[in-house]
Order: sequence, then C-alpha cells, then structure tokens
Amino acid sequence: MAQQNTNPYSSGKTFYLETFGCQMNVHDSEKVIGTLQQQGYTQVEEEAAADLILYNTCSIRDKAEQKVFNRLNDYKKLHAQGKRFGVLGCVAQQEGEKIFERAPYVSLVSGSASYRKLPEMLVQLEAGASRITGLDDRQTEETFETEFTARSNAHRGYITIIEGCDKFCAYCVVPYTRGKERSRKSSSVLAEARRMAEAGYTEIQLLGQNVNSYHDPEGKKSFAELLAAVGEVPGIVRVRFTTSHPRDFTRDIVEAIDAVPALCDHVHLPIQSGSSRVLQLMQREYTREQYLEKISWIKTARRPISMTTDMIVGFPGETPDDFEETITLAAEVQYDGIFAFKYSPRPNTPAIHMSDSIPEEEKSMRLQILLDRQREIQRINYARHVGEVMDVMVEGHNHARGQVIGRTSQNKTLNFTTSQPILPAPGSYLKVRVTRSLPNSLVGEAVS
Ligand code: 5AD
Ligand code: SF4
Repeated sequence: MAQQNTNPYSSGKTFYLETFGCQMNVHDSEKVIGTLQQQGYTQVEEEAAADLILYNTCSIRDKAEQKVFNRLNDYKKLHAQGKRFGVLGCVAQQEGEKIFERAPYVSLVSGSASYRKLPEMLVQLEAGASRITGLDDRQTEETFETEFTARSNAHRGYITIIEGCDKFCAYCVVPYTRGKERSRKSSSVLAEARRMAEAGYTEIQLLGQNVNSYHDPEGKKSFAELLAAVGEVPGIVRVRFTTSHPRDFTRDIVEAIDAVPALCDHVHLPIQSGSSRVLQLMQREYTREQYLEKISWIKTARRPISMTTDMIVGFPGETPDDFEETITLAAEVQYDGIFAFKYSPRPNTPAIHMSDSIPEEEKSMRLQILLDRQREIQRINYARHVGEVMDVMVEGHNHARGQVIGRTSQNKTLNFTTSQPILPAPGSYLKVRVTRSLPNSLVGEAVS
C-alpha cells in the first residue's frame, strides 16, 4: 500500500507501518510516513527489517480492534532484538495507557489528534523513553496538516478537510477516539489541491468523518462551495468526498455536482437503519422520511448520481419490523452498494448500556438477508449500464485476465480489454463500452 521511501537524507533509522480501518486512517498514515521520513527514517516493508514498528489502528468494531492485539502478539518476540513498538490511531486513543499493561513491549501510544507532536515523541523514543503517550489533544482546535504527506498513489490523493466528530451517534466510538470536530481553512484546502494538481494528481478525495458538517474557519466557503472550488482547480478531473452525514446533507451539494463536471457522480450517504424508531435510538437526528427526501434530490439531479450507504443490523431493540423497514428502504433507494455491519458494542458509547440486545445468530441472519436482497438490487442496477460508454480512470492491470482495471465516475469498477498493443497507463482516462455486468463490477472494451 505505502510506497518505499528513498529519502537521500536517511540516517539509517527504519520503520514499518501497518494501517487498519478507514480512509481517514489510510491518509493519516500517509502523513505519519511523511513526518517520519522528514525525521530521517526510512520505510521498510517487513517488521523484521524495522527499528520502529507502528500499527495505525481501528476500533470501530470489536473485530478490527482484536486484529491489532493479535498483530502485536504475533511480533512481540522482535522486542528482544531491540525493536520498538508504537500503537497509533483509534485503539491507541481508546485504550490509552492500558496498552502498556496489555503489551508491555509497546513504547509509544498516540491518538490521531496528537500526531502533530510526533517529531517530539520520536525524539523521546530515540532517547530511550519507554512509555510515551499522545492522548490528551482531543479538544484541540487544530488539524494535522503537513507538507510532507507521502501519498501512496501518484494520480489520486486524499485531502483532509475536517477531523473529529461532534455527532455522538449512540453506537459510535469515533467522537471518543478522534476528538472534537474541527475544520481546516478553505484557503489551505485549495492550496493543497493546487499543489497536488501541479504535481500531476488528477483525482482528489476530500476526507472527513462528516465532510458536509464542514465549517470554514475563515467563513469563506460552505461545503458545497469548497467542493465546487476544488473541482475547478485546473488539472483536477475528478473530485470525490466521503463521508456525508444525512442531517447536514444539503441540496446545494447536489446542485454543485450538477454544475461542476469534475465532481463525481457518486454520493455515499450512510442511513444506518430504515426505521425512524431505531434512528432515534441511534441518535441519528433524522427520520426515514427526511432521509428519503434527500435521496429524492439526488435522484432528480440532471446527472446520474450513484448512491451507496452504510447500514447496521441488530442495534439494541431492533425488532423484526424495524429490520423489515431497513429492507424496504434499501429496495426503495436502490443503492449501488452498501456496507452492512452487525452491531458491535463499543466502549464509552451510550448504546453499550442499552438493553434488548439481539443474539449474535439473529444479527448474522439479518445481515445475510440484507446482503442477499442487496445483491439482487445491484445485479439489476449494474445490468442497466450494458451498452453504455463510460469514462474510466485506469487503476492498474490484471495480467492474469488480460484486463485493464478502470474506475468510473460513479465509483464502479469497470474491467476492460483493449485492442491497442500498449496498455493504458495507471492514471490515464479513456472511454470504455460496457459489454457485461456482474453485481459488483462491469466488464467492457476500450473505445478506440
Ligand atoms: N457497530 C457496527 N457498525 C458500526 N459502525 C460504526 N460503529 C459501529 C458499531 N458500533 C459502522 C457504521 C458507520 C461505518 C463506518 O461503520 O455503519 O457508518
Ligand atoms: Fe476505525 Fe472510525 Fe477510527 Fe476510522 S475513525 S479508524 S473507522 S474507529
């Protein structure tokens, strides 16, 4: 995932970094890598070759968290060889100093709001300190910006526009791990977008836990205006944004997509549940009807905007009727994709104290029903594209299948063949005719 560092100023110190979790974490890791390189560290691809082993962790569900402790356990023997361990990210913030008890060979524990202090923490680490923490910065007003971000893809890259979250949904650990919501100045976002365009990037993905809660500290731009402005940066061909919160999703976002060609035809709008009763228990601050109204804006846009969502099944107190409402909502919206999860109780969250928990088998059954229904919806949605000519950005090649891997503006994978002797390079754009569809991808031929 992350590229190998070739820092000419490297002083021989090496690090290994593995990332778990969401795109925010992936992008944080790009910033951490850039910061470490700036401090003279070289990235290596295996734990065994590193002086410093870092895990950037996720705690959104218990399985994600468990993976981190398993990984720490797998590699603890390397501590005897003098290697240092650091735990970064959401598990670090959530568990804090308890990590030192559970894994005494760990020397550094830092949540994302403290990465600005990484250079200082590295100095302490190099001086031999054993329990270094960065855990107290969640109330910061500052965002973590760095000019050294080591982006792992040369054509498309993330820009953080907002960090943290103030929504406090009853099931969600994020406000406790990533701290309070803080937006970055629009001038700073645009300057980074311009720098990226000059460096050859053509696709930008604006990132945040709730991008559309964006509140420009300079008071210059709304989220929709910022989106449009990034889309108008010369050289930028595609702009995506994730994740949106339905409560703050405003009509001007759809109008911006209609007006600015570079904004991609895709909105990810997590519903979580189709039942207004469950939505209220989840403290989502919108009803099924309010959500569907926002979906109607998207459906009536001039451009064909693809919709995807996140859903949780088995939230405490979810009855079979509530679950049925999630099924009917998915059928009504006709999403092009859903990320569906079984509810997982998380420390510190209000839902952990709620009664009426749903048995694990029931959760699994509901999840399977939802995924089966969704597969049918997607089969039909994807089949509608057969015969269309779509613009794709080339992502890579599948040599075994003799296919080029492309991505459409709607964020669908379109694998295609070409009659040209030289395969199109990653990052190039071309037109592809869709010849066949599957529930999760399209197949086609490049239009010569
Ligand atoms: N259990 C299950 N799924 C969760 N998500 C967030 N918290 C939990 C939890 N405690 C899901 C939501 C969110 C996505 C990123 O993860 O659907 O949108
Ligand atoms: Fe996981 Fe949420 Fe942290 Fe992302 S912000 S890494 S999804 S817990």
